[in-house]
Amino acid sequence: MNTIEIINKKKYGKELSYEEIEYIVNGYVNDSIPDYQISSWLMAVYFQGLNSDETSALTDLMVKSGETIDLSFLNTTVVDKHSTGGVGDKVSLIVAPITTSLGIPFAKMSGRGLGHTGGTVDKLESIKGFHTELPLQRFKDQVKELGIALVGQSGNLVPADKKIYALRDVTGTVDSIPLIASSIMSKKIASGADAIVLDIKVGNGAFMKTEEEAKKLAETMVAIGKKLNRETVAVLTNMDQPLGTEIGNGNEVLEAVKLLRDQEYSQDLYDVSIEIAAQMVFLAGKATTEEQARKLVEEVIQSGEAYEKFVTFIEAQDGKMDSIHEIEAKQSIDVTAEQAGYIASIETQQIGEAAMLLGAGRKTKDDQIDHQVGITFHVKTGDKLQTGAKLATIHTNMEDNDTVIKKIKDAITLSENPVQVKPSVIGIVN
Ligand code: URA
Repeated sequence: MNTIEIINKKKYGKELSYEEIEYIVNGYVNDSIPDYQISSWLMAVYFQGLNSDETSALTDLMVKSGETIDLSFLNTTVVDKHSTGGVGDKVSLIVAPITTSLGIPFAKMSGRGLGHTGGTVDKLESIKGFHTELPLQRFKDQVKELGIALVGQSGNLVPADKKIYALRDVTGTVDSIPLIASSIMSKKIASGADAIVLDIKVGNGAFMKTEEEAKKLAETMVAIGKKLNRETVAVLTNMDQPLGTEIGNGNEVLEAVKLLRDQEYSQDLYDVSIEIAAQMVFLAGKATTEEQARKLVEEVIQSGEAYEKFVTFIEAQDGKMDSIHEIEAKQSIDVTAEQAGYIASIETQQIGEAAMLLGAGRKTKDDQIDHQVGITFHVKTGDKLQTGAKLATIHTNMEDNDTVIKKIKDAITLSENPVQVKPSVIGIVN
């Protein structure tokens, strides 16, 4: 086989065989094909796409490029969840104890945040003492014993994706649906999932800006799941505004606790969390209908069982529950509306970037984050405001906050007339 022939074949829109994709993936991982040829191949894929067989082959080969985690000793269906990333997304913290309470093991490897989006591992590290790096055996033992463990991605899982993703990042080839789909699905499969629920965020704070793109990504991932025998459901959820009220780390953990412990929540966060958890319960075969699954999920929140599981989980990973409280930044500053009106739109990515500027997120992979800063976002699209109403409160350790305040104000557009509000859960693809 020859790399140039394979590049040319894709360049002219022809279908690649499993063996040709294997030649490319393995050649890149073992350094026999250089960056510049893989860059060229990726650009050909970007323009010509991959069909369903090719996308599944790429996913399968990326899984096979490294270690995989075997959770078959649990003797039950392991359902994982994945979010494509958004602002204020603390859904994993909420659904993990819910599904565990319903007898579904939650054994998750999560990521860190980058840019305007947050990561579950960073949020958990705001809890004093909490360990996000556990030896694999301890991770497995904890899942067996308590049904729940959540750690950062480690080890040699999917090295092909690590290498290809880094190259995509610098060659303008990240935003390709088959490449995104295979990248995400390979990591879920390698980490031991039998079934997968995807939370595909749609809107101005998400990777996928339109419903059309999000649906295409969802269909591509569901098709990979079918081909590789991992039942997969995608839930399309709204990211045209921050999810819930808190954006940051410590404050997002507290928001999750308030939902589970006090049943105090913002409706959008509740609705998305219930739907994701219910889809996981349904896929695990713990309910005969989706409606029944939703009911089971709501019951374990109301009974306090899910909150008890959350405490068990945090303490098992050495976290101190009493360190979860209102965040303690040097100052809190209210950002207020300069005129009256209805909230017509919120540039969500700008809000995520404002939180990042405060130190709650990272501009580059190596930045340190400050767990005790963030934004409390007081408004939702469609809300009617008077002049001077609180839009947001920033919790900051910086002296000069003018840029952040301006960014938040500029991100919010008001209208004189009532506006139509999008649902939090837009649709399901299965
Ligand atoms: N997240 C991933 O893990 N991979 C992509 O390609 C894009 C987002």
